[in-house]
Amino acid sequence: MTGRLPILKSGATLAAIAAICTSLVALTYHYTADRIAANDKALLEQSLQPALSDLFFDSGVSESRLVVAPPHELPGDDEALIYRIYAQGKPVAALFVVTAKDGFAGPIRILLGVDMQGVVTGIRILQHRETPGLGDKIVSRRSDWVHQFPGHSIHDPGVEDWAIRRDGGQFDQLTGASVTPRAVVKAMRDTLLYFEAHQEEIFAAPATEDAT
Ligand SMILES: Cc1cc2nc3c(=O)[nH]c(=O)nc-3n(C[C@H](O)[C@H](O)[C@H](O)COP(=O)(O)O)c2cc1C
Repeated sequence: MTGRLPILKSGATLAAIAAICTSLVALTYHYTADRIAANDKALLEQSLQPALSDLFFDSGVSESRLVVAPPHELPGDDEALIYRIYAQGKPVAALFVVTAKDGFAGPIRILLGVDMQGVVTGIRILQHRETPGLGDKIVSRRSDWVHQFPGHSIHDPGVEDWAIRRDGGQFDQLTGASVTPRAVVKAMRDTLLYFEAHQEEIFAAPATEDAT
């Protein structure tokens, strides 16, 4: 019996330490959750900014998010996101997060900004697995490739010309890598067409609640 006492004591001590640690984690979470959420929102708004170029817009972009579950008419088979952008309460642009399915090495997640006239404000690549030195030049840190799009709309140069030069279109491909830019340009074209067809309903829809 006496031999068991130290084991019981150690067990009780360990249980007490575990309970204290769990309480500390819960307390820390409780007191920092709001600040973390605010930081996440600020970070999100910062990361969306490059696709909006110098457009002035109201804060609170994350609250305007629409989650478009598949199947949908936007590029990609996964969930698409749409952020409605306002300036002084008036719609000025939409930011789309969509997926170009047919990249060289897999899907390419794209952030595309479009103003209310359907003109591209910017595009950034959020995720990809394209080859370094070839397909990865779609990333703004690697080349200027994405900078050819702002200012263009589905009517400039026209739907048929929303393709890479190799395919008879207006946009530059990358040297030795046509597959990646072809996929991205196609996804951009399809997103611009979607925006033109659905602009009104996009801005009328209620924001998607965060799942908690
Ligand atoms: C190892 C390897 C990696 C490649 N990575 C890519 C890539 O990331 N993106 C791409 O478009 N093409 C890539 N290519 C080239 C494609 O296979 C294809 O030849 C090219 O996209 C066609 O472009 P072009 O018509 O301009 O030659 C890669 C080829 C090899 C051998």
